[in-house]
Amino acid sequence: MQNLTSIRDIGRKHGLGILDRAEIFRQTGRFPTLRHAVLLAFFQPSTRTRIGFASAAIRCGGVPIDLSALRFEPGMSKEESISDTVRCATGQVDMMVLRHGDPSAFEAAASAAQCPVVNAGNASGEHPTQALVDLFAIQRGKGDVDGLRIGLAGDLGSRAAHSLFSALEWFDPGEIRLMHPAGKGMPPDLLNGSTNRNVTICPDLNLSDLDVIYIAGLPAGTGEAFLSETERSKWSLSKARMEEARSDALVLCPLPRIDEIHAELDNDPRSCYFRQSDEGLFVRAAVLEWMQSINGG
Ligand code: CP
Repeated sequence: MQNLTSIRDIGRKHGLGILDRAEIFRQTGRFPTLRHAVLLAFFQPSTRTRIGFASAAIRCGGVPIDLSALRFEPGMSKEESISDTVRCATGQVDMMVLRHGDPSAFEAAASAAQCPVVNAGNASGEHPTQALVDLFAIQRGKGDVDGLRIGLAGDLGSRAAHSLFSALEWFDPGEIRLMHPAGKGMPPDLLNGSTNRNVTICPDLNLSDLDVIYIAGLPAGTGEAFLSETERSKWSLSKARMEEARSDALVLCPLPRIDEIHAELDNDPRSCYFRQSDEGLFVRAAVLEWMQSINGG
């Protein structure tokens, strides 16, 4: 049984194949027939990924099943372990899509699972299907990824940034410009272990000459993640800031956003983050199809 844990599980050939299939679904409005029962096990909030997989499952003739609670009814009092829950629930479905905030939960769940598991975001580790959605949006906006100057900005310690940075190894961008607040950079092991060429690191939001501006988000809340209002404003995209950008730049973001991209930019023709989100449906249908194919379906 093969799971999708990391973007590295896919590889260039299959990754490009998934993107091609997604484009066919987008162009034709026709989806493969899979008839999967897909368990959506989201233990962290999600709008785009959860609904994308649910809608993809339905359009492929299947049914999404939400796993929304780990606890039994009040009165039974015990909390069930994630392993037991996953063991039992996956004995009755064809695929599980899992998001969890605990870095060790994906591995534990995958070991207990009786069906293939797709990582829909594991703590600050990876978000492989988001990377595919991001690449799909880049290809839709720019055609070829090779040669592009791509800026990744914001919290590059986020799972979406990690997976996209790794997925860019499939291509040969003209530049990958990493721009992040202090302490929010790409983890050194990921950076040093990458085969990406033309990587530059910039301590400011420098939009000049970029073909793609990918706003990875800024950490919300307090505690370790805290960023002052001044810092947030320094790293946010505003109409004034976008005057530095190319007239044909593509602005992408995995979303959700708080103030990372000002709402005044939503109607700017360069802002493609909502289309990026919408077209996640086609990519997630292609992921379900690929998962079935590699698991002998
Ligand atoms: N980009 C993303 O993962 O969004 P959700 O948290 O809404 O799924």
